[in-house]
Amino acid sequence: MPTQRYAVFGHPVAHSLSPRLHALFAEQTGIDLEYLAIDASPEDFEGAVRSFLETDGCGANVTLPHKARAFGLADVHTAMAGRLGVANVLTRLPDGRIEADSNDGAGMLADLRARCRIEPRGRDVLLLGAGGAARAAAFALLDAGTQSLVVANRTLDRAHALAAALAQPARLRVLAWGDLAAAAPFGLIVNATSAGLRHDSPPALPRTLAQPHTMTYDLSYGPAAGWFLDWARAAGCARACDGLGMLVETAAGSFERWHGVRPDADAALGALRRTLP
Ligand code: ATR
Repeated sequence: MPTQRYAVFGHPVAHSLSPRLHALFAEQTGIDLEYLAIDASPEDFEGAVRSFLETDGCGANVTLPHKARAFGLADVHTAMAGRLGVANVLTRLPDGRIEADSNDGAGMLADLRARCRIEPRGRDVLLLGAGGAARAAAFALLDAGTQSLVVANRTLDRAHALAAALAQPARLRVLAWGDLAAAAPFGLIVNATSAGLRHDSPPALPRTLAQPHTMTYDLSYGPAAGWFLDWARAAGCARACDGLGMLVETAAGSFERWHGVRPDADAALGALRRTLP
């Protein structure tokens, strides 16, 4: 059987850990595969993915800034991708059609529960951000049974647009960034902003958002998560977790979708943490 080919598409994509993760999973499971990182500009993305999947590519992960385009080019959408309007997993079906799925939210919940030992059910949750990452997190948190969800975003209109898409007015509230200082403390605070990725200064969060029992989770990892996790520790939060485990869970979910085998995410995460700065 020829080697199965997979890839992650992004722009930029050189920093992606997906090729390493899929190589680790392939080693664990003895599956012969090739996994590439393909840089495609927004203009080239659709053509590049189509030609990859129409030749010998079996599946693709999609990262920034292409998640909405990945949804748009697919022939079939899973229920979760349909709700979000974005996709991070593309699969070539046996009949040649392309299926789009989003497993970012599932990956976040799996990591929250299994590694961070944080159960969102019944908690009052503050979600920082209203972009693509926040959207997947918000649906997952509400699905998981949070008592309430407050969405705060620097640009208030985007928070309102996200709230409208979530359509759960009884459990959902939008807060202007400037009103965070007056908010009561939360049980769980999730950072889904991309602050810290660029060289702009991170937002100043009031310490009053936290109490000693407050759990915190950042969807990003490495230097991008630094400012938020530093804030959480300084504010005395009970737990401050980064999102590296979420990345591993989403990769493991893609691997399982494509190969029908669930790889050992804990072992892969351990291997990754040992090599990251
Ligand atoms: P992603 O798909 O990673 O969520 P995005 O759609 O560009 O990327 O969203 C980035 C999020 O981070 C937005 O909520 C953005 O706030 P705005 O909607 O006001 O742009 C937020 N963000 C980025 N930099 C920020 C900063 N320095 N302070 C506060 N919020 C920031």
